[in-house]
Amino acid sequence: MIDLKGLDVVSGASLTPINVMTNSTPNKALVVDTHARYHMPNYAPGQLFVRGEGSYLWDSEGKKYLDFVSGIAVTALGHCHPAMVAALKEQSEKLFHVSNLYYNEHAPFLAETLSKMTMGGKVLFCNSGAEANEGLIKLARKWGSESGRHEIITMKNSFHGRTLATLTATGQDKIQKGFAPLPEGFVYADYNNLDSVKACKTDKTVAVMLELVQAEGGVLPADQDFVHGLADWCKENNLLLLLDEIQTGVGRTGRCFAYKHYDIEPDAISLAKGLGGGFPIGAVVTGEKLQDVFGPGSHGTTFGGQPLACAMARTVLKVFKDEQLCLHASEMGALLESELAPLVEKYDFIVALRGQGLLQGLVIDRPAKALEELLAERGLLTVCTAGNVIRMLPPLNVTRDQVREAVEIINDACAAWKI
Ligand SMILES: Cc1ncc(COP(=O)(O)O)c(C=O)c1O
Repeated sequence: MIDLKGLDVVSGASLTPINVMTNSTPNKALVVDTHARYHMPNYAPGQLFVRGEGSYLWDSEGKKYLDFVSGIAVTALGHCHPAMVAALKEQSEKLFHVSNLYYNEHAPFLAETLSKMTMGGKVLFCNSGAEANEGLIKLARKWGSESGRHEIITMKNSFHGRTLATLTATGQDKIQKGFAPLPEGFVYADYNNLDSVKACKTDKTVAVMLELVQAEGGVLPADQDFVHGLADWCKENNLLLLLDEIQTGVGRTGRCFAYKHYDIEPDAISLAKGLGGGFPIGAVVTGEKLQDVFGPGSHGTTFGGQPLACAMARTVLKVFKDEQLCLHASEMGALLESELAPLVEKYDFIVALRGQGLLQGLVIDRPAKALEELLAERGLLTVCTAGNVIRMLPPLNVTRDQVREAVEIINDACAAWKI
């Protein structure tokens, strides 16, 4: 127990006793009440999860769930993978954090691996997806500043994060509402429409930034023709091609990075989510053109590239390689698609199945939240997006049996759904 006097609590206020590590199950009612009183109300959480193992989670009432959310594409190796537990234990007993004032033994080798997996340039570490996209945006502006260019073309229906610049890059009014004035310099094109992108170009345009699957936007993959045409057009016009691989990166789509499905080479990509497998880390990874644009002092972050986060990301990539998870994710994605396809025929309210690898969406002809809740009642976690899409993001090491278990639950829930 910590001495409460040491926290300088306002006189007269009482505090829930602090006993951080405990084996007893938390009191859900107390957690919910305390959350409601002290958290800003920007989230509406449901279950209280207390334990995870592989593809499964257990809530505070002991109910078991098959987790096809994975912390929204984060827990790429499932929950509490033994290699991650061991790495966390080992590194936490050695060193948590120093600062970018000093070298650490993990960051350079993580950067090397990411560079060699991608476009061969250099890496900037940070802590989240939005921060990685901020890095992409700043990189583009810095590169363009010599030619007086700063505008970035992004896509309607995209999602790039919640900081001021990234919510402005996000082409969705509902994300931007209430935060005006927004930073200047973003123009929105129609996704999968090259003519629309071309029409957005001005003499100030410096880059095009997009997701190759609009995940939050409803699991919409980019067409091959669109991406090839866009990559060529960017080259012809000396524009940067920036890819937000926050959700699609690190194997999610069945290739290491989604751009590898397209036979193109972006100028830079942003990563986060699955890279740390549940430990916060983000990265901007460049090709040669952008690798030396940020000089000393031009950008930075206290936690970016710290040893504990980098040790965890290195472990994720090691397991990824040792267990051939890219190939596995591709096979499991194909299995999930083939098992779900008959449901599209069977239920009138399912209008489509779309996605890539282990990022799949069942498109419903009406709001899908009630179906998401029905699935959770039956022990399957999914995440509704764009209002009418049931999105599935299982861990990359999900098994065949677990894929079949999920599809069985979906079938049962659809059969029981009273609409
Ligand atoms: C494609 C994409 N970009 C950026 C982000 C923002 O990442 P973060 O929530 O880590 O800031 C997300 C988060 O869902 C995302 O899916």
